[in-house]
Amino acid sequence: MAQDLIAGIAKDRLEKLAQREAKRYAAARPKAKAALAKGADAYLGGVPLHWMTDWPMPHLPLVARAKGARLTDIDGYEIDDFCLGDTGSMFGHSPAPVAKAIRAQAPRGLTYMLPTEDGLAAGRLLQEVFGPFRWQIATTATDANRFAIRVARAITGRPKILVFNGCYHGTVDDVMVELSGGITQNRQGLMGQVADLTLGATAVEFNDLTAVEAALKTGEIAAILTEPVMTNSCMVLPDAGFHDGLRLLSRRYGALLIIDETHTISSGLGGYTAVHSLSPDIFVVGKCVAGGLPTAVWGLSDETAKRYEEANAKRAPGHSGMGTTLSANPMALAALRANLAEVMTAEAYAHMERLALRLETGFQALIADHALPWHVSRVGMRLEVGFARQPPRNGAESEAAHSALLGDAVRLYLLNRGVLVTPFHLMMLTSPATTEAAVDRLLALWREAVEELQATAAAMQPQEAHP
Ligand SMILES: Cc1ncc(COP(=O)(O)O)c(C=O)c1O
Repeated sequence: MAQDLIAGIAKDRLEKLAQREAKRYAAARPKAKAALAKGADAYLGGVPLHWMTDWPMPHLPLVARAKGARLTDIDGYEIDDFCLGDTGSMFGHSPAPVAKAIRAQAPRGLTYMLPTEDGLAAGRLLQEVFGPFRWQIATTATDANRFAIRVARAITGRPKILVFNGCYHGTVDDVMVELSGGITQNRQGLMGQVADLTLGATAVEFNDLTAVEAALKTGEIAAILTEPVMTNSCMVLPDAGFHDGLRLLSRRYGALLIIDETHTISSGLGGYTAVHSLSPDIFVVGKCVAGGLPTAVWGLSDETAKRYEEANAKRAPGHSGMGTTLSANPMALAALRANLAEVMTAEAYAHMERLALRLETGFQALIADHALPWHVSRVGMRLEVGFARQPPRNGAESEAAHSALLGDAVRLYLLNRGVLVTPFHLMMLTSPATTEAAVDRLLALWREAVEELQATAAAMQPQEAHP
């Protein structure tokens, strides 16, 4: 009888390994288990953010502290962190200049809805690092995208945002749509969403310029909102010429181009936009931009800023629907300034990229040595192992290649041996604090996992937890 295979791995072997690793994990973390049980009733779902329960493991570890590229949990395990808060701490946990700036600002007031000198300096640095945009500060990338969408609608007078199937731009209600049988619909699983989101958003597949043009031809599209590389649907790289096509078509049909660099800031200094000479009308980046403090930024090109000012001057008095009270607080701006000036440097990027390249080469060798029908994709210091021979070209292909069972089993195998990778897919990031030794440990563990999964069932032995 033919064996049931998942991405080249026998399913029964994978299930066995997953069960063994789950048992091993649960047995090794009694303190976390007890602490979670004690706090279980205070929080809806047992933890302060329900996303935390999406980590596929018997129960969560509790973090005692984090520094650089390492976490220590309350059960005493030291963990090499390649998840890095899903990009929030891509520049390392508590980078020294950011921690120093926070300490200096802390006794001088935390929020006052007035500007500071630090804040003005941060604005100039934003221009130096990301380009001559006219900036605004938000608290999350979700908010920054929401405001970018508002601006695009205000200045074009059009209702719809064009997004790519499988994209994620934060919990932005307006673009929570997907493609089903070629038709845009509300994404499945949305909680309490009663609006027909298709009135304000259209989805097409990434890398499909014909579909982009067809959507733009309707005259309803205010803006294309896209990541330069789709990073939330495994990793989907743009075809050669795709970004030029987006820019050309958006201009031809009078739509704005919003580039969300929240994850692709991993590409290099200035993000994918600087590295690949893109020319967005609105540039958005969040997560790690202030070294891990909740801050995001959105910037308008000169031309867009002019149109914004015209639209703003014409609107009726009242609330614009943009901005939140704690945004641009002095603490966030001090951290932003320190991060831009002293952490997010060309040298830091060079280190991160060198290690990411080492990882990529290691994964390529692993895939080749074991004849795995997998691939590895990389954008700067962000890597993803995908369970299909060819990298996906769009969200649908990415979805088809995804295997939660394989991903979850490998993730837990790694965590049981002291390495953390992202929860939803197998994304790995290097930081300025990541070491070559940590990269080599990660590669060695992946190789061990693959060797075990490809070995005969009899060779699968229970193993001890790492201390
Ligand atoms: C590309 C992209 N944009 C925006 C966001 C939203 O970031 P936040 O959750 O910090 O609002 C995310 C979050 O994962 C993201 O991946």
